[in-house]
Amino acid sequence: MYRLRCLDLVLSVPVAAQSDRKEHKGYGLGMAPTPDSSDSPTRPDSDAIKALSFTVWSYKMGEQVSLMIHLGDRLGLYRAMNGAGPVSSESLAADTNLNERLVQEWLLGQAAAKLVDRHDDGRFELTPVQSAVMADEENSLQFAAGAFRGGTEPATIDGLIESFSTGTGLTYEQQGSAAAAGLARMTGPWSRLALTSTILPALNGVVEKLEAGALVIDVGCGAGVTATTIAGAFPKSTCIGYDPSETAIGLARDRSQDLGLKNVEFISQGADAVPATSDADLILCFDCLHDMPRPDLALQAIRGALSDSGTLLVKDIRSSGNFDRDAKNPFLAMFYGFSISSCLQSAMSEPDSLALGTLGLHPERLRELASEAGFGSVEQHDFEDAANLYYEVTV
Ligand SMILES: C[S@@+](CC[C@H](N)C(=O)[O-])C[C@H]1O[C@@H](n2cnc3c(N)ncnc32)[C@H](O)[C@@H]1O
Repeated sequence: MYRLRCLDLVLSVPVAAQSDRKEHKGYGLGMAPTPDSSDSPTRPDSDAIKALSFTVWSYKMGEQVSLMIHLGDRLGLYRAMNGAGPVSSESLAADTNLNERLVQEWLLGQAAAKLVDRHDDGRFELTPVQSAVMADEENSLQFAAGAFRGGTEPATIDGLIESFSTGTGLTYEQQGSAAAAGLARMTGPWSRLALTSTILPALNGVVEKLEAGALVIDVGCGAGVTATTIAGAFPKSTCIGYDPSETAIGLARDRSQDLGLKNVEFISQGADAVPATSDADLILCFDCLHDMPRPDLALQAIRGALSDSGTLLVKDIRSSGNFDRDAKNPFLAMFYGFSISSCLQSAMSEPDSLALGTLGLHPERLRELASEAGFGSVEQHDFEDAANLYYEVTV
């Protein structure tokens, strides 16, 4: 009975392309026909129900397509299609050593999702535009496939459920083994490709100091992409990364070893452990102040470590502190999802936290916190990074 009802839900979808199929007036995407509500003032508007049903089923489709993207990324399917021109499912399966029937189904689904093109002869192609988003991790700022982790581990979901009762969130370390690596791939394109070419050159005198040899501290360094990028680009400078997540620090150390860097080290401690040496020339806080239980105390520690002529560069989520204004962002619900599942969890992982969460560090809040910590100036930069704003903070 239950199965029949589920089928009824799905099969009632009218498909415009199926012109030979009889359409039934009143059917909405993903729902059975609803009775005409015009004669029943107590019933909700049936068109509004259909519209909401469409929205909700589109989230379900997003869940499925997200999993398919993860599979394609992990199985190397996008990479195998990158620059290969039109390919058949047989040749792609042979190239990747995978089962042809499953590869064929994946390709059809990708074509349905418009992530690959399907040609009239039945072959499939990853176009240059699709490659930039799905395959070209090394060179494309728009590479996005690495952000798809294939879902959340069941133990982490149990932890999220529990946090709603206890009010105590999960640290990044507790958010599952894939969290640190997934984040590094999500933020990686901007950290690797835009940092040295666009972001650092926009800051007053920073590149000159880095070229001459500067002390750089990366607070909340995660898997070390930013710190290793700076260490690699400025061999006379020294970079020290701090992060309380052992998993993230392990990945950062592996990364610096793989890159053969001698001028970077990683310490598995939080911002409060950064010593007050007043000698750092540049301190970075990338996408992490809003994750900290006490960003106010972190900024005080950072002020203590920074030289009076040094620069703090904060990268944080583009938000305004006003829900209605933020609602213009078509991805706002995704950012709230990141908050509940990750950022606010980390921010609430200790008692007496400020509980900022993903959207909580808007420009005004940062200015307040920076001023309280003893900084004199906050200059906001917009590098057209869709998700983030950047702040050059000085004494
Ligand atoms: C979203 S990740 C960003 C990592 C990295 N900066 C990047 O851009 O990819 C946030 C990081 O903040 C770290 N974090 C959380 N609380 C912290 C604290 N009190 N001090 C320093 N880092 C912290 C987490 O462990 C996590 O690695």
